[in-house]
Amino acid sequence: MNKLFNIKDKCYALSGGTGTLGGSIAAYLVQNGAKVILLGRSSNKLNDKCAELNVGNSGLATSFLVDVLNEEELIVVKNKIASTYGNLDGLINLAGGNVPGATLTADQTIYDIDLKDTKNVIDINLYGTVIPTIVLSELLANQGHGSIINISSMASKQAISRVLGYSVAKAGVDIFTKWMANELASKFNDKVRVNAIAPGFFIGNQNRRLLLNENGTFTNRGKSIIANTPMGRFGEASELNGMVHYLLSDASSFVTGKIFEVDGGFSSFSGV
Ligand SMILES: NC(=O)c1ccc[n+]([C@@H]2O[C@H](COP(=O)([O-])OP(=O)(O)OC[C@H]3O[C@@H](n4cnc5c(N)ncnc54)[C@H](O)[C@@H]3O)[C@@H](O)[C@H]2O)c1
Repeated sequence: MNKLFNIKDKCYALSGGTGTLGGSIAAYLVQNGAKVILLGRSSNKLNDKCAELNVGNSGLATSFLVDVLNEEELIVVKNKIASTYGNLDGLINLAGGNVPGATLTADQTIYDIDLKDTKNVIDINLYGTVIPTIVLSELLANQGHGSIINISSMASKQAISRVLGYSVAKAGVDIFTKWMANELASKFNDKVRVNAIAPGFFIGNQNRRLLLNENGTFTNRGKSIIANTPMGRFGEASELNGMVHYLLSDASSFVTGKIFEVDGGFSSFSGV
């Protein structure tokens, strides 16, 4: 493979690696010879996903049980990564998503919002990226190289109805991405980079009920998204792999602090 895009033998930590998008990205990385360290809260899910990833790629996938909102647990993981692997070439923060209580129904207004659930959604989507990045990026800063990828959303730059907490959190992820990019490149090393991917709409466990009816037809929200996506379809999880590979590899060596939309054109279309 072209050296510019080499990720073989590199070591990447992923939160949310047992989820829809994270599982797909972890499989792609392992298929390309990278080691992946899955960070998650369910030992059963982590063990199952590692076993699945290690079929034919023996030993490339391992995991640590950790809640990405728990700083103490993350510090333990950081020390274990340092002692087991020696270095860490990158971190992908995929833990996140929505919860039903923080999603307004079509006939509710802002005054019906559940603020406790909204705060929980802000915690997981914003602090679930901020805390692991600050703890684990110290490994990258000290060794002088590495690439961090955060996961933003179409909801970060424009109001997408019903998901206030999620939008607020992902807007926070965007500015945190720029902030960390500045901090790491200017005070540590220009080889430590931080970028974000803003996926368009990909059907996963969390948004399936919002986008699809039980009989598989689109809900009104699903129809509206498709009507506003020039490509006229939802994304496939594998369609994030190219951007992930680019951002992890030296092909993006002069790129930091950017948010890259992978969205079938959704964010560049006016809707008219
Ligand atoms: N699916 C989409 O269309 C879409 C679009 C834009 C952005 N995203 C973002 O992509 C990321 C992955 O989404 P997905 O669709 O794969 O969702 P998913 O629910 O399949 O995966 C999310 C994962 O995060 C994990 N997680 C949640 N809280 C955690 C915590 N405190 N500690 C550790 N792990 C935790 C969950 O267990 C799950 O494995 C999320 O940040 C989501 O907001 C998804």
